[in-house]
This record gives sequence, C-alpha cells and structure tokens, in this order.
Amino acid sequence: MQKNKIYIETYGCQMNLADTEIVLGILQNKGYSVTKEAEDADVVLVNTCSIRDNAEQRIYGRLGNFKNLKNRNPHLVVGILGCMAERLRKDLVEEKSIVDLVVGPDEYRRLPELIDIAYNGDKGIGVKLSKTETYDDLLPYREDGLQAWISVMRGCDKFCTFCVVPFTRGRERSRSLSSIVNEVKQLSERGFKEVTLLGQNVNSYLDDKNDFADLLSACAKVDRMMRIRFTTSHPQDMSDKLLFTIAENSNICNYIHLPVQSGSNRILELMNRTYTIEHYLDLIEKARNIIPAVSFSTDIIAGFPTENYEDHVMTLDIMRTVRYDGAFMFKYSPREGTKAFKMKDDVPEEVKTKRLQEIIDLQQQISYEINQELIGTEETVLVEGKSRKSDNFFAGRTDSNKVVIFPVDDKINDGDYVKVKINKATQATLFGNYSSHTDIKSENLALIA
Ligand code: 5AD
Ligand code: SF4
Repeated sequence: MQKNKIYIETYGCQMNLADTEIVLGILQNKGYSVTKEAEDADVVLVNTCSIRDNAEQRIYGRLGNFKNLKNRNPHLVVGILGCMAERLRKDLVEEKSIVDLVVGPDEYRRLPELIDIAYNGDKGIGVKLSKTETYDDLLPYREDGLQAWISVMRGCDKFCTFCVVPFTRGRERSRSLSSIVNEVKQLSERGFKEVTLLGQNVNSYLDDKNDFADLLSACAKVDRMMRIRFTTSHPQDMSDKLLFTIAENSNICNYIHLPVQSGSNRILELMNRTYTIEHYLDLIEKARNIIPAVSFSTDIIAGFPTENYEDHVMTLDIMRTVRYDGAFMFKYSPREGTKAFKMKDDVPEEVKTKRLQEIIDLQQQISYEINQELIGTEETVLVEGKSRKSDNFFAGRTDSNKVVIFPVDDKINDGDYVKVKINKATQATLFGNYSSHTDIKSENLALIA
C-alpha cells in the first residue's frame, strides 16, 4: 500500500528537535515519507512546547491555520505531539476539534497505530509517561549535514518550582552509553562534524557505572575531528571529573550552558534550585581554573513571584560578575500544576517587562565587550557554509559557539576547520579573514592521551 506523507513542525527546545527526528525515524520505518509542504501532507504533526504561555499561544495560532487546511481536505490527520499533548491531553481533542491525534513524548512508538486510528475517524490518544522509554534502539531520521543532536537522557527530577518539564516529560532516565557511542560513530562516518548531547539535566546521566563525564569522553574518542557539545547542565550536579574531562579532550567544546535563573538566594530557594549564588560562583571559578578558555551561557527569569527590586539588582550583579557569553532571558510565566503556580504572580507585567529589558540590555553590552576583546585574535572556526546574507562569505562557529563571517576562498570547504583572524565584532557576530587550515583546537592537542 502506498503510505502517506508526513509534515512536521517543531517548537521549543533542542530536545524537541531531536524528538522530531525520532518520530520521523519511526514513521519512515513504517513506509511514510516526509514532505516539507503542509499542503502536500496526509498527516500534519506539531511537536509542541509548554514551557511558557506564549509558546502555547503561538502554537494555538498555528493550529488555526491547519484548521483551514483540514476544511479543504477533510481526510487530513492533524496531530499534536510533545509537551502540550502531555499537559493538555483530552482538552485538545475536545476543545480544539481539529485535532485527531494527541501523543505525549513517551508514546511515539505507538504513532503508526494511533495514526491508523485517526484515519478510521477516531481520536488517537497516547499520553502515558514512562519510567524506562529512551528510544535507545531507534535510529533517528537525519538529513545529511554537519551538526546533529543526540538525546542521551529524558525527563527531569529536579522540580524547579516554575517548570512544567517534570510533568510533561516525566522522570529522568538515561540511554545506554554503547548505543550513544554507536550513533556518534555513524554520524562521523556520514561526515558530521559536530554532535550535541542533549538532556534536561545531562549531569544526572547514569548508565550502570558510567556517568556523564564517562559518556563525554567515550564520545570524544570516536573522532577527534568531531566537536562534542552538551546541554543542559544543572549547577548542583557539575562534578570536578566532568570539568577535567572537558579540559583533557581537545574536541569537547569549552563552553558550558549553566542556567542561573536568578542572582538572589531568596528567589533561588523559592525556585527550588538547590544551590546558592556563592556555590554557583565557586563552581564558575573552579571551571575557569580547570578549563582556562571556558565560556558560559545561562538562562535567566525576570519577575518570579515576590521578586523585588533588590533581587533584580542581584541578578544584574551576577551577570556582571560571571560575564556570560550569551543568555536566554525570559519573563516568568505561571504554569498550571507547578508549585510556583500556587504562589501569587505578583510582579506586575510592566515591571517584568522593564526588568527583562534591563537584563537583555546588560547582556548585549557584555556580549559586545567580550567580542570586542577578540579583535586581533585568531579563532578556530568550523566552516558551516555560505553566510545567510551573501554567497561571497562563509559562516562558521567557534568552539564557544560564536558565529564568524569571513570572505570565501577556493581553499576552503564546508566542514573544514580554519583559523580566522578577527577584525570586527558586533554583539552577536565576529568578522575576519582566513589565515590557515588547522586541527580542531591545535593548542590543546598535546593533552590527548
Ligand atoms: N517561566 C519563564 N521561564 C521559564 N523557564 C522554564 N519555566 C519557565 C517559566 N515558567 C526557563 C528557565 C529554563 C529555560 C529552559 O526556560 O530559564 O532554564
Ligand atoms: Fe525544568 Fe529545572 Fe528540570 Fe530544567 S532542571 S527542566 S528548569 S525542572
């Protein structure tokens, strides 16, 4: 039988992007093909995010568009996957009558069966969370390229009081080290040059006796010309062993995403973040001692319940102290079912907006200053392709994930590592000129055992 065409749209974090590849892997195995045009599809899937209300509102807007498609093609199956499916469950089928399928993050194996149910005119619903599902044995669908994600663990046990993830993605569980390493090998053989290991809290990774540091070093050994990145780290669980592993492996990027959320100990406690600012700063200092070239990025929330002006100033202070390379910055958004939802959302909207703007302005200033300091230095860049704005320029990234733009040169191909001498910098981008080809991070090669 001629199987049908799937169109999928993905919202939210990198975990969702990785899940979309798993979903497409499952459906391709069953004979479905993938289309990039919703108009051309028999099944439209939306992989959703619930982390903040504005993410959900955007997705509701998009569902409205699909309603029009369905009016034109009544046989079209429209499905919601991911966190919103898990959070809203049956409501989505009942209230949003255009939805035929609601499938949470741990039930993707059942998608073919649930799609068949929807084809037959019933609602396909699968929203059970699992303590064991990691899709360990499934090969995700990936187009050729240079960069790939691998999710190494699922779920989160931290229960930060603002966060819906422990409810939508369930308990922490890790994939096996051997299957992850095998996937890295396959990606290396296909010519991929960068892998990002993903989890809500990768430092909790545990497979038998292997912790996250063991996993990182096993992945790094596969191909020394392949960059290994990882996200997200929780400050409570970052071990010294992990820091030494990053320092000792030239191809593990010297870049740590370490969400701080707030600079106030009082707010951190209300958030159940389980560390103090003093502990956080000690960790940053230790990391800088062990990995001298390390840089950091972070997540910050403005306007958590009861946050006062002093708390906000402490957040600005921690940003000035750490000097993050980059930050994801958000207004607090109450999420039903979380502990913080029961606290009064008492910071007025305009105050949240003002504080968030101050945080963004400060981060832009810090990023600009950090980038200015790079003028005159040579950065190792993985060439990713032509720049978005012009075919006369290449774009690539440094170890610390900064975009570098430089003129094309016959000697350079996508996937090469090159040294670029930086001559100009904005808050978001570095500009420079090619100087030579290089190893992945030549200054550190001596450290490889
Ligand atoms: N409101 C605002 N930001 C949130 N985040 C998680 N939950 C919320 C919320 N309810 C942010 C945190 C987290 C990032 C992924 O999203 O900063 O680290
Ligand atoms: Fe949410 Fe906290 Fe878990 Fe991150 S560590 S996913 S913020 S509960």
